[in-house]
Amino acid sequence: MTEQTRTAKLSFGDTEIELPMHSPSVGPDVIDITKLYAQGNVFTYDPGFTSTAACDSTITFIDGAKGELLHRGYPIDQLASKSHFLEVCFLLLYGYLPTAAEIEDFEYRVTRHTMVHEQMINFFKGFRRDAHPMAIMVGTVGALSAFYHDSTDISDPWQREVASIRMIAKMPTIAAMAYKYTIGQPFVYPRNDLDYASNFLHMCFSVPAEEYVPNPILSRAMDRIFTLHADHEQNASTSTVRLAGSSGANPFACIAAGIACLWGPAHGGANQACLEMLKEIGTVDRIPEFIARAKDKDDPFRLMGFGHRVYKNFDPRAKVMKQSADEVLDLMGIENNPTLQVAKELERQALEDPYFTEKKLFPNVDFYSGIILEAMGFPTAMFTPIFALSRTVGWISQWKEMVTDPGQKIGRPRQLYLGETQRNYVDVEDR
Ligand code: SDX
Repeated sequence: MTEQTRTAKLSFGDTEIELPMHSPSVGPDVIDITKLYAQGNVFTYDPGFTSTAACDSTITFIDGAKGELLHRGYPIDQLASKSHFLEVCFLLLYGYLPTAAEIEDFEYRVTRHTMVHEQMINFFKGFRRDAHPMAIMVGTVGALSAFYHDSTDISDPWQREVASIRMIAKMPTIAAMAYKYTIGQPFVYPRNDLDYASNFLHMCFSVPAEEYVPNPILSRAMDRIFTLHADHEQNASTSTVRLAGSSGANPFACIAAGIACLWGPAHGGANQACLEMLKEIGTVDRIPEFIARAKDKDDPFRLMGFGHRVYKNFDPRAKVMKQSADEVLDLMGIENNPTLQVAKELERQALEDPYFTEKKLFPNVDFYSGIILEAMGFPTAMFTPIFALSRTVGWISQWKEMVTDPGQKIGRPRQLYLGETQRNYVDVEDR
């Protein structure tokens, strides 16, 4: 925690309380209310945490007004164009860009943790073939804690390190296995001669009947998608991982909790929901009908892939994703992809509509990602597992920061209670 810079005075009734304030490296100052309840016998109230800093962190910063995203100070557009996913993983985990020797060692360690225990296969076989891959991932990732007892002691720095590497390394394997299982194809083992993104494409798309050679342009696009989803401050799933970790739960259980939260259509499930929406719109001439529905207060329909709790400008990731969509679709010879045409026209019309511009509803990371993933051959059900695979490094980095914070304590929010005050039990015959 930074030193106190100034104080805030809070007065209510005949109570006046002076609260310390802290200044960040960049972004808003915070009012420290940790002593408020003890001094004033009041809680603050902020459902959805729109104005609440739940922790301090040095990993990622978002400027919602400017549409900027920094990972350890480096802008996401620079990382997306100049770095690669495992280097971004190193940066998020350790806080600096690695030397050539360090990244070689890190990649060697991750590569050699990509296999999962062979008995994990038994978990997959328990699911129906039409199970959603996210259901499979929640279950199997949580089960990892039953296999890796040598990396569940969170007080041991070495075990924390091994668990972090294992999670980053095994998530692509588990996601690919979930995909293969749902399409009835045999699992494909990882290969140590392939880079991280190529290995994932290989585990998803190769079949025993023929050789699979990953396309370098698709591998690069896949790697960029991983980078664009790697971390994002204290979003809902990261906050879930932190809260789970605050009780001392092992890292595999915490990541499973993060996967469960990410699944929701308001969060990581939006990429699947967005592509399904674009397909439901189908043609450009139906766009006005859906924009009208999104604006209709009586209609629960929202434009999937639009809006964000923090970004009140373009999501910088959406800009990079849009460029990638054009590249991949050109490569696949489907630059006239009807879904992409609908997406670009929908974006144009929405950004000319005061409802969206006044509410600062711009395309977010999920708006274009689904178009790329579909062009690569993934079914929509695999979009959120790919988001989960990418976000694992962010979750594990934030978890590590939380468990190594000397001031860390179990997260335990309070409430504004609006229920019944105390009353006496009434026997059933007297009711
Ligand atoms: C991710 O937090 C993160 O960082 C998440 C993420 C990450 O990397 O971890 O960035 C990933 O989850 C991106 C967001 C993906 N979700 C979607 O695309 C689903 C569609 N978007 C909305 O559900 C919504 O925009 C949220 C959930 C993303 C944000 O919701 P907020 O900040 O709680 O805003 P809100 O729901 O209070 O909406 C504010 C207003 C409302 O109108 P009023 O009540 O003020 O009149 O804007 C409207 C909403 O009705 N609105 C929309 C809209 N999003 C908000 N109207 C139509 N379409 C939309 N998409």
